[in-house]
Amino acid sequence: MPEPTGYPDLDAILPRLDAVPTLAADVLDAERTAVLGRKSGVLTAALRTLASRPVEERKRYGAALNRLKERFEAAFEARAEVLEAERRRREGTGIDLTMPGRRHWVGAEHPVTKVVDEIVGIFRELGFAVATGPEVETEWYNFLALNFPADHPAMDMHDTLYLDAPPAEGEPAGRLLLRTHTSPVQIRTMLAAPPPVRVVIPGMVYRNDAMDASHLPAFSQIEGLAVDEGISFVDLKATLTHFAHRFFSPATKTRFRPSFFPFTEPSAEMDVECQLCHGSGCPACKGTGWMEILGCGMVHEAVLENVHLDPERYTGWAFGMGPHRIALLRYGVPDIRLLLGGDMRFLEAVGRPGVVGGDDA
Ligand code: DAH
Repeated sequence: MPEPTGYPDLDAILPRLDAVPTLAADVLDAERTAVLGRKSGVLTAALRTLASRPVEERKRYGAALNRLKERFEAAFEARAEVLEAERRRREGTGIDLTMPGRRHWVGAEHPVTKVVDEIVGIFRELGFAVATGPEVETEWYNFLALNFPADHPAMDMHDTLYLDAPPAEGEPAGRLLLRTHTSPVQIRTMLAAPPPVRVVIPGMVYRNDAMDASHLPAFSQIEGLAVDEGISFVDLKATLTHFAHRFFSPATKTRFRPSFFPFTEPSAEMDVECQLCHGSGCPACKGTGWMEILGCGMVHEAVLENVHLDPERYTGWAFGMGPHRIALLRYGVPDIRLLLGGDMRFLEAVGRPGVVGGDDA
């Protein structure tokens, strides 16, 4: 028990001074107000008795009261410090371990980037090199050298985006345009070095098309070209079938349908078993059970001649496919525009590991 003050009314308060070091944090403030509060604190009440005391006692009583007030103040302050130190110890370095964690955003490759890298990777394993070419082309590389007749409808302004600028000095004649396919890089590759040629050519291409669920005015293509002595349609079929088995699954069925391209003869379109219904027919494959993935064929003699190669000695095969389209097939995406949007629900679903389109590893 603290030292008595010599005044019974003040001594009656001393047990409360004794109790301050045991007070809990949630009652400390209330007790301080009950003792020291200006309006109703017990010490304030004692101060009010000063005036009614004999004059000679006032000084002594006032001094005792003051000392008691100081002892209470010191006790409250000390208790508050102890409680604060305890709180800090409990909460470590100020980190509240009970707070829910904040989610980290993890970036992911775009589905089309993944598809391009994977396709290029499969062909690189087969010994193909990667080539690229300009997106601004001349009519000669984009059409004429590829054996398009000068009046071919693809050259129409309705389909092809032309530039106003004149072609650079020394370029083969013709207007400048945004390439409509990656096939002109076949011409550039064959002009750059003699066979054997084995290249894949990824890149963006442009067409005067309105955007809808299955068309974009700018989209990706991957071209393939193999030119050497003794290359036959068997090489084309075997290589592209191997590709489909690697890219989709070893059991995926494929088929080749006759088609037409000015730069290949014969030409074909290659279909793979619909990846959504596995051949039984669904809305995505329009009930056919098949999905077209690429165009291909044997390099046309006229094309070989345009790049000064002897068609009697060299033969070749080529293909062109659209990674945007292939991403739709692979991930079951109903609308190609989703690939360009910022919808996080879609991007997360195709980018997150373990979910559709996530890394298998
Ligand atoms: N260039 C064609 C297109 O954009 C695709 C294509 C078809 C490329 C057959 C080829 C090929 O190399 O052999 O539609």
